Amino acid sequence: MTADFRQGFVSHTEDIERTSLPVTGDLPAWLEGTLIRNGPARFEAGPHSYRHWFDGLAMLHSFHLAAGQVHYTGRFIQSRQYARDTAAGSIHYSGFAIDPCRSLFSRVMSVFFPEETGNNTNVNVARLAGRYLALTETPLAMEFDPRTLATLGVVGYDDDLTGQVTTAHPHDDPDLHAGINLMTHFGPTTQYHLFRITATGRTRIAAIPVQQPAYMHSFGLTQRYIVLCEFSFRLPHVLKLAFRTRPFIENFVFQPQQDTVFTVVDKVSGAVVARVPADPFFAFHHVNAYEDGDRLIVDICAYEDAALIGQLYLDALRGPGGAPQVGQLRRYSVPLAGGRATWELLSTDSLDLPRIHYRRCNGRDYQFAYGAGGRSGTQDFLNQLVKVDVKQRTSRTWYAPGCYPGEPVFVPAPDAAAEDDGVLLSVVLDAAAGTSFLLVLAAATMTEIARAQVPAPLPFGFHGQFFGGV
Ligand code: CO
Repeated sequence: MTADFRQGFVSHTEDIERTSLPVTGDLPAWLEGTLIRNGPARFEAGPHSYRHWFDGLAMLHSFHLAAGQVHYTGRFIQSRQYARDTAAGSIHYSGFAIDPCRSLFSRVMSVFFPEETGNNTNVNVARLAGRYLALTETPLAMEFDPRTLATLGVVGYDDDLTGQVTTAHPHDDPDLHAGINLMTHFGPTTQYHLFRITATGRTRIAAIPVQQPAYMHSFGLTQRYIVLCEFSFRLPHVLKLAFRTRPFIENFVFQPQQDTVFTVVDKVSGAVVARVPADPFFAFHHVNAYEDGDRLIVDICAYEDAALIGQLYLDALRGPGGAPQVGQLRRYSVPLAGGRATWELLSTDSLDLPRIHYRRCNGRDYQFAYGAGGRSGTQDFLNQLVKVDVKQRTSRTWYAPGCYPGEPVFVPAPDAAAEDDGVLLSVVLDAAAGTSFLLVLAAATMTEIARAQVPAPLPFGFHGQFFGGV
């Protein structure tokens, strides 16, 4: 086995039963709850590879923290795709960058009827209306038990909201007491649907027609507005998706001559209040957004173009070539009364997989963003954690040679006064040791408080959440 970051792309085949992890350092007594993370963990079905990192089979990882102890459980999501592909040893469902369908009929069916997808929900987790859900970019979520990680089943909605692609980054709106998400309906008239989710179901906020839909992995939410950033990575001909000869994402084209557009939507009335052009760019992740007089501030992990998507094919990641690019933390100033959006760099440290003190700061002026980045001067996978003070424009990092940290999840201390009073939880691959560990950092100083050793190298994940009281 290779001793570098590529261990994070090695397939796992078995669940890992609940096990107690040895802890070094001192876990804060107040840190009680469960970090649940999601990500692809198995990249082959028989002799066939899924091609792209984003198409690997979903595995949930839980770290239960209580009384100074940590217990880990890892379990594959029992999706239709997992069951069929692993039993048959071949690939049966369309995904982000795979399309095994042979006949025109089944291609069209798999685009227009989401129940025909494999429901490989490998991107994120959320607690929505009291249910614990694993999410991906096809609309149906998978409910799971947060204690055992057992798959409970597909969550469907009996309403007239339709669409084929959604985001795995719903927002939580404290004013509306609802989740908010985006779903794109590709068809003769393509529309972005914005909607609320509560315990009683989904309600449409807006239906916005679009000629050339953008691929959007996330969006922003201020106190009044939903902020769509329609990147210059767009689908030129919607019908090509229905009668496609290419996998989903390979139909999108980065168009360097086409502006990126910030589309600003009133979150209550659904009215489009502004469309603000910006020079072309691409991103997966919004960091935060807020209102500042007659403009919006939109912080985002930006890329010059969409080349990163190509760099995340498994052949590229596992091969001898260079490591994927990492985004730069840009602050866009979005004027609501006319004009173009402009940007400035918030940090010279690269950053993606961003997190903030969400409950306190989302949609509001704030001070700290956290993420994983690449240490300057290294040509490597994500190899450090970064904290950016977006007011002072300074940063602090955590780095250890040969270690590859994942998304840092901020957990606030109880009754915290300072925005950064709390810890960051990150699952780190220690390539030299051939193991992973859960790293607990003091968010204020980015110094290690404790770590819990996992007896195996865990595959890199995408996103996770900390759930108190679980
Ligand atoms: Co994401």
